[in-house]
Amino acid sequence: MNALKIRDNIYWVGALDPEMRIFDLVFKTDHGSTYNSYLIKDEKVALIDTVKGAFTTEFISRIKSQVDLKDIDYIITSHTEPDHSGALPELLKYAINAKIIVSKAGRYLLKNILNMPIDLTTTDECPEIDLGTYRLKFFPAPYLHWPDTVFTYLNEEKILFTCDAFGAHYCDERMFDDLVGDFDPHFHYYYDSIMRPFKPYILKTIEKIENLDIDIIAAAHGPIIRKNPWKYVESYRSWSQRQTDEKKNILILYVSIYNSTKKMAEAIAEGILKKGVSVKKIEVNETDPQFVRDAIERADGIIVGSPTIVGDVPKPVWDALSLLSTVKSEIKLGAAFGSYGWSGEAAKMIEDRLSGLHIKLHKPSLRVKLIPEDKTLQECREFGKEFAIALEQK
Ligand code: FEO
Repeated sequence: MNALKIRDNIYWVGALDPEMRIFDLVFKTDHGSTYNSYLIKDEKVALIDTVKGAFTTEFISRIKSQVDLKDIDYIITSHTEPDHSGALPELLKYAINAKIIVSKAGRYLLKNILNMPIDLTTTDECPEIDLGTYRLKFFPAPYLHWPDTVFTYLNEEKILFTCDAFGAHYCDERMFDDLVGDFDPHFHYYYDSIMRPFKPYILKTIEKIENLDIDIIAAAHGPIIRKNPWKYVESYRSWSQRQTDEKKNILILYVSIYNSTKKMAEAIAEGILKKGVSVKKIEVNETDPQFVRDAIERADGIIVGSPTIVGDVPKPVWDALSLLSTVKSEIKLGAAFGSYGWSGEAAKMIEDRLSGLHIKLHKPSLRVKLIPEDKTLQECREFGKEFAIALEQK
């Protein structure tokens, strides 16, 4: 595919990766992805981002179809992750006059990614660049989705270059949103997979750009959005607004083999309800992970229950715990419980995991050997009550 004209003097020069099926180890990419890089030709020439290292040769030849590499004056690194900086070392061998612009946070990251002596100018030092006819203005967008991210606004053409934000893992060489058909489910999945843990930062960044006149959002993955860019900004805004509940919510996640841990979960929930706090119980092995994520995001407290199997926490519980870091959680208090047969390590392991995620533990876990009797179920009710009281005081 050749360089693609977006407007006079503005070209897409990135790379297509239609075969990619997994991104960042875990995210499915059934339609591959693209690494979008943009070239702006004016009295001075600017390049926004590069591509993943494996696509360097074709990337460089797309740029060369438009300009001599020696004529590149600025390379703007919106975000330093190697899918956007991988081709930079090779490009710099030829773009010998280019000044690299990066955010302050990105400066340190890029030095550790390139591992070579390099002169960098930060967007703090240089918040705008005059290219001749065009002016580029930088907007810090930290944690969308790394601390280094910066947006670039091209005022004269009303184009906002947003790197990973407003992107989608969706490869179609027609490249424009109005030509590729409906990619909205992929746009939403990408947000859920990559951006969702950073909701407050997304809302702050939208405040910075909401008064800009924007005709085109040119992200670093997937289609270039020119049909209705604000629809996508508003989607990010609505997905990022936290739904607040008047009452505190406690989430109990558990699995159970012979109903013992389940009975404990039910008794703990009864104790919580007695204190007038709302509680949701989820058997994680029988529940869609997306539903579990939503519940985690709304929870103020979490109590996780598991039996112990061969000295370990069973996989469905580890999987559920792995969801905690994939959302912007407001959880202030945690605890663990479980029935066990021999040694009962699971509850302690869950506590360690919760602590590792900076969730304060209410009190030592509640463990019951094999089948809980009435007396121990009463202890579970008390455990739930005390947890609810402690959470209300937070
Ligand atoms: Fe597309 Fe965060 O890299």
